[in-house]
Amino acid sequence: MVEFNAPVLNEIKRYISSGPLPFHMPGHKMGKGFKKGHFDQIAAMDLTEIPLLDNLHFPEGIIKEALELAATAFGADKTFFLVNGSTSGIHAIIRTICNPGDKLIVSRDCHKSVIGGMMLAGVEPYYITPDFDREFGVPGTISPEKVCEAFEKNHDCAGILLTRPNYYGICSDLKSIAEIAASYGKVLAVDEAHGAHLKFSSKLPRCAMDLGADICVQSAHKTLPAFTQGAYLHVKSQKIDMEKLKYILGMLQTTSPSYVIMSSLDYSRAIMETEGEALFENLLYNIKWFINSLKFFNEFTVLSEVKTGSIQTDKTRLVINVSRTGLTGFEVERLLRFDYNIQVEMSDMGNIVCITTVSDTRDDFERLYLALQDIRNRVVREGKISDINIDTCFRIYDISEQVIPLKEAFNSRSKIVELNSAAGMIAKGTITPYPPGIPAVCPGERISRDVIEALLSLREQGGNVNGIGKHNEIEVIDF
Ligand SMILES: Cc1ncc(COP(=O)(O)O)c(C=O)c1O
Repeated sequence: MVEFNAPVLNEIKRYISSGPLPFHMPGHKMGKGFKKGHFDQIAAMDLTEIPLLDNLHFPEGIIKEALELAATAFGADKTFFLVNGSTSGIHAIIRTICNPGDKLIVSRDCHKSVIGGMMLAGVEPYYITPDFDREFGVPGTISPEKVCEAFEKNHDCAGILLTRPNYYGICSDLKSIAEIAASYGKVLAVDEAHGAHLKFSSKLPRCAMDLGADICVQSAHKTLPAFTQGAYLHVKSQKIDMEKLKYILGMLQTTSPSYVIMSSLDYSRAIMETEGEALFENLLYNIKWFINSLKFFNEFTVLSEVKTGSIQTDKTRLVINVSRTGLTGFEVERLLRFDYNIQVEMSDMGNIVCITTVSDTRDDFERLYLALQDIRNRVVREGKISDINIDTCFRIYDISEQVIPLKEAFNSRSKIVELNSAAGMIAKGTITPYPPGIPAVCPGERISRDVIEALLSLREQGGNVNGIGKHNEIEVIDF
């Protein structure tokens, strides 16, 4: 007799019963963010297009009403529900605003779905790099000057696709960028995957729809109480061909959209509209308490607290620099996970990154604070205080030379080589430190010695890099 064995289910159940504290997505934080009575019967809610439940692809009833309510709440002309995350929305945007062979201006700190979307659509990128923040070792803003220069050099482009906020909550000056895009008559698309919540607090940076973007995606599941994969696509523009967009979404999205996900997108909008401002007031109050408490220690600095003035940041994104503890962000993440049962969203060489949402309570912040205090005391006792060198972070995101077009790289033959011996070769796939999911090398690009060393060093320190095998092997183009 075969025994009942469901490893994923078993581990998830074990994990839940261990009482973890999530400072990561999804934003409902293991159900805490749902008020009682709404999602207590998730299995029963997993329905399909039966009478009265409408149809996502041809909405005429309750889904149509929910989409209209969402468009009003988010300040859009039209909103679509996405049940395969912002990824599907980004693919749809690229295919809607570009034709095969078109050029798109793209910020290099884009998510890998942007690269994948362009490859599949036969679109070629013109990259612009964000400034880098040396203090925290993270990508910063895209300046309006760089956007202007990019349009000047690419009058024939279809538009621009910008990531804002970035994974670290840093927000470029979108209002100025929108004015520039409009002056060139080009489409401004925004990957606002990390900013679905911005609309609902006057204390946070303003959202893409309010700042002049033509079209944007938002991963509701990251920062709002919505289920994983739940996202919105908003349009506010005459420049977008709505019929083409609908047609493409119909091809990219499943014909069996999850009612559980769609209900949570509806719930997030409703709860934000009715209680959003107060919920964020409370969250920001708790964050303030947490940051003030951390100030007792020299070893921790919080990005949003330091970067005031010229750079706008999302204060709900807690980027805590830990490099003065003598530990890397990777090491602090592991300590939090295995010694304190606290899971952060991600870490890099110098920082841990926590996604905080309205679902987090004061107790949660106190538990995180006590854990960091304890880690700090342990490190001091062990006399380990020293500065970690975070310089390698920068080299990873130097733009590599594009030798052959994305599409050609996609269709080329490949071979496997050792990363260390790949200097000068052309990448077949994307090499992406994950998280944050920002590509270091894209298909068709020459792999430089600097990038190789930075990637190897990142791996040695405990970072995860997609596109590099277990034994440091990578796929390159075989000419
Ligand atoms: C900047 C950015 N854009 C897009 C995505 C994709 O979003 P989703 O997971 O909702 O498909 C991510 C995911 O991490 C992201 O960080």
